Amino acid sequence: MNVDINKAKEKFEKLLEEQLLRIEKMKEDKDFINYDELDKIIIGVVGGDGIGPSITNEAQRILEFLLEGEKVEFRVIDGCTIENRAAVGKAIPDDVLEEIKKCHVILKGPTTTPRAGDPWPNIESANVAMRKELDLFANVRPVKVAEQGIDWTFFRENTEGAYAVGSKGVHVTDELAIDFTVTTTEGSERIARAAFEYAKKAGKTRVTCVTKANVVKTTDGKFLEICKEVAKEYPEIEFDDWYIDIMTAKLIDPKRRTDFQVLVLPNLYGDILTDEAAEFQGGVGTAGSANIGKKYAMFEAIHGSAPRMVKEGRAKYADPCSMIRAAVMLLEHIGFTEKAKRLERALDICMHEEKKLVITGRDTGATSAQFADYVMETIKSL
Ligand code: IPM
Ligand code: MG
Repeated sequence: MNVDINKAKEKFEKLLEEQLLRIEKMKEDKDFINYDELDKIIIGVVGGDGIGPSITNEAQRILEFLLEGEKVEFRVIDGCTIENRAAVGKAIPDDVLEEIKKCHVILKGPTTTPRAGDPWPNIESANVAMRKELDLFANVRPVKVAEQGIDWTFFRENTEGAYAVGSKGVHVTDELAIDFTVTTTEGSERIARAAFEYAKKAGKTRVTCVTKANVVKTTDGKFLEICKEVAKEYPEIEFDDWYIDIMTAKLIDPKRRTDFQVLVLPNLYGDILTDEAAEFQGGVGTAGSANIGKKYAMFEAIHGSAPRMVKEGRAKYADPCSMIRAAVMLLEHIGFTEKAKRLERALDICMHEEKKLVITGRDTGATSAQFADYVMETIKSL
């Protein structure tokens, strides 16, 4: 028994050292990259697995169309497939990561995340690894349903919480498994500040923190305390806090849900709540997500790689809207605000207003490519 405990202690000690080092690294990165100062913005395109490459390619085509003549370069980066990742036993193969790090922003398709029992080794998720490697601490996920008065922007903490060492838990004995959740001052402060800064710029009047600080007292407690501290710097913005359980309920309460504007929350709660939220808008296939760090940023869909669609030969009918939404966020982030607005407008027309083509996920509807063409035609008509 003692032997097992010593092994677990050693592993824990290593985790602590890694996390302390990470805190030091976070402190070093002070300023956000300024895209205006670059001669050229390099956009890396990582297709991923399953339906990923085809829907990412459609989003890329639209971006290329909108950014023609601008100081941008597109770089398609292959090799982030589950087959390659499994072969080298790494969440992201080294050569792929190296290429990614040469870009400024990444447009990323969904990647398959293995779990125990899958035909793949149970390696860490490529999403999670990329967020950590590039220190993309703010996962920004907007959800809008205008006719229902829903206009939420989630600021999901993206590098800590249950995900920080999610694949480094310890089987202490055959009967005892322990996972860890991590909250740091620096990590909480930067996500809280990102949420408040966004609220301020976007003219929002309220920021809501979501935790389970009544039960998960130490880590969620710290997250909440720091959000409260940061809130004091923004007296013009109302701040409140909710527990995750009641928040999941309130999101489906039509009388209350329209009160929420900007929500800031630890990683796992953000993961769960944003899937629920996206459902109001038409499901995860309609939602894009921005992963923002100080140096890099990555834009992706919030859904998975849908291997079943590929197996059934339906990949070309996959809904590209999530990746096109991600493209809207990318444009906005690198400073092409007007182009972002036009693309968003065109997408709203195609998806909700005019609906000349509809995506059904099978041959009863349009292909991803036809839909992307439709979006581009609509842009031209604006
Ligand atoms: C998301 C996804 C990922 C996550 C998975 C694929 C690892 O669900 O982006 O929300 O849990 O963050
Ligand atoms: Mg998720």
